[in-house]
Amino acid sequence: MKDINTMIETARAALKMAHAPYSNFRVGVCLKTQTGKIFSGCNIENASYGLTQCAEATAIAHMIMAGEKNIIEMAVLSESDMPCSPCGACRQRIVEFSSSETVIHICSFKGLHKSMTIAELFPESFTTAHLKFHKD
Ligand code: THU
Repeated sequence: MKDINTMIETARAALKMAHAPYSNFRVGVCLKTQTGKIFSGCNIENASYGLTQCAEATAIAHMIMAGEKNIIEMAVLSESDMPCSPCGACRQRIVEFSSSETVIHICSFKGLHKSMTIAELFPESFTTAHLKFHKD
């Protein structure tokens, strides 16, 4: 079991890989899956600003490419002293691969600020359960 400090260190290392020349706001993420593996990601910006990919999306892409789909916990941080919380779009990305117990660790560069479940961070989210009730 990876402890939170390992996850934060891994997120810090991921942040160093960020491509963020437009915002200069580098973000690092480390997630742990049900099988105990960890995957990390950084933000990747583009001269066409709207194409920016958040660090959470990069970490999730690595997880998916490794054949994993169940996030147990995720640490998110930027270089700032202000703790970095996942943006709205990333909450939707995270919930797709979470259970109600999945824990998000909101961190500053220095360390852990606060841990909360994705259900607390993103209540009443739209999920695949809604699609199952859809009638053509
Ligand atoms: N960013 C992330 O990578 N994750 C978030 O949850 C918040 C925002 C990135 C996107 C952009 O490259 C920079 O932070 C400033 O918005």
